[in-house]
Amino acid sequence: MAAQERVGTSIQASEAGPDLPKNAFRLAQTTQLDALLTIVRDQRTSRGDFIFYCDRIFRLLVEEGLNHLPVIEKQVTTPTGQTYNGVGFQGAICGVSIMRAGEAMEQGLRECARSVRIGKILIQRDEETALPKLFYAKLPEDISERYVLLLDPMLATGGSAIKAIETLLEYKVAEERILFLNMLSSPEGLRKVCEAFPKARVITGWIDRGLDEKSYIVPGIGDAGDRYFT
Ligand code: PRP
Ligand code: URA
Repeated sequence: MAAQERVGTSIQASEAGPDLPKNAFRLAQTTQLDALLTIVRDQRTSRGDFIFYCDRIFRLLVEEGLNHLPVIEKQVTTPTGQTYNGVGFQGAICGVSIMRAGEAMEQGLRECARSVRIGKILIQRDEETALPKLFYAKLPEDISERYVLLLDPMLATGGSAIKAIETLLEYKVAEERILFLNMLSSPEGLRKVCEAFPKARVITGWIDRGLDEKSYIVPGIGDAGDRYFT
């Protein structure tokens, strides 16, 4: 049976602003999501609460990412003896986290996809120049046969995400099988990544105002990795 492409419940980010790309998607801008992000943004939020509320947002992002995977028609018989014409996922997935902050999203993925394979890419922004540097990549051997959920909560200049996606392409992952999940984007970073990889999809929680002189997202949440892990 033919696989059918179904787009998830996220609103295309292009609806939020005329010049945003078509392959950018934004979570539904609910008051719940805004309330979760308000806690995460607050500089007085304790580390425990920061982790708890980030995890809730990560779970929403993963659930939305799964909405973008293709499904195939599937028929089951229910306990009432009736036939139900539903759908089942088609195609294998894996996660790839951009270390370090991306690792925080792994749990959300595991909660939705038990025993999912997870690869790691270590990319760090130089604190002075904000330019990304690739240190390490360890990816599942059969990654080229999988849909890849690329995980990193922050999309600032876009440099780290671009390097990570270039790495996935070197490992022969098809661009259209890459879904980049992030919690917070700058408009310029989001545009840069989407334009560099028009067949990949970026699913973001919220699009902020922009970047400051140190290339931090504003109003933003500060250093996500530091606040989550240290
Ligand atoms: C942060 C963040 C992204 C990157 C985003 O990582 O987690 O990977 O910056 O910035 P960009 O879009 O301008 O590249 P960082 O390099 O600070 O490392 P960390 O995860 O260890 O905090
Ligand atoms: N990395 C972060 O953790 N936060 C930003 O605002 C930008 C990059």
